[in-house]
Amino acid sequence: MKLPKATIPFERYFKYEMGKNVLCLLVLLISFQSVWAQGETPGFSDLVPFVATPDEVVNIILELSEIQEGDVLYDLGSGDGRIPIEAAVRYGIKAVGVEIDADLVSEANSNAREMGVEDLVTFVQGDLFEMDFSEATVLVLYLFPDINLKLRPIIQQLPKGTRVISHRFDMGDWEPEKIRKVTLEDGREHEVYYWTVE
Ligand SMILES: C[S@@+](CC[C@H](N)C(=O)[O-])C[C@H]1O[C@@H](n2cnc3c(N)ncnc32)[C@H](O)[C@@H]1O
Repeated sequence: MKLPKATIPFERYFKYEMGKNVLCLLVLLISFQSVWAQGETPGFSDLVPFVATPDEVVNIILELSEIQEGDVLYDLGSGDGRIPIEAAVRYGIKAVGVEIDADLVSEANSNAREMGVEDLVTFVQGDLFEMDFSEATVLVLYLFPDINLKLRPIIQQLPKGTRVISHRFDMGDWEPEKIRKVTLEDGREHEVYYWTVE
């Protein structure tokens, strides 16, 4: 026997579909609200990707640092290690890179060996927010604006005279003492900001 086709009256169908949509919207709003309530902006800003500082900008960072014997340079988020390695090669100082990505730490260690500065340079794998970098006399950053702002109160507790250099991003209303700008061959402009802890 052929059964009659079950049909839903349009009004009920419409209410059912609308109900599903409203429910989805509510779930989305609650998720976003719980993130905002923790004072965090939802998004990718906590994950700074590896973007290498070009050689010309590394030169500017090291010039601004005015490195002297006895200085200790830290690069927070050191990527392939180019800045600590270059500082050790040029000035023979101790340099430390903090890097969350274990593969980049291995690459940096092998770069340091290749450049013959493995005794001067150390790469520590981990989250920069969990590291003690209070021995730094020169601190280098190439992170994101919101990370710089989160780091700023920690940096401002470092010993007086610590030099802080940030590629590309400033630190909000903490006025830099120096700003250097360079336009590279590819037409991109890079800024480097310099502060000293007071
Ligand atoms: C823009 S790259 C800069 C690399 C290097 N300092 C340079 O200037 O060539 C940022 C680096 O920070 C690392 N990083 C991001 N978040 C981090 C965290 N919370 N702790 C340590 N390293 C982090 C990334 O893996 C990446 O290698």
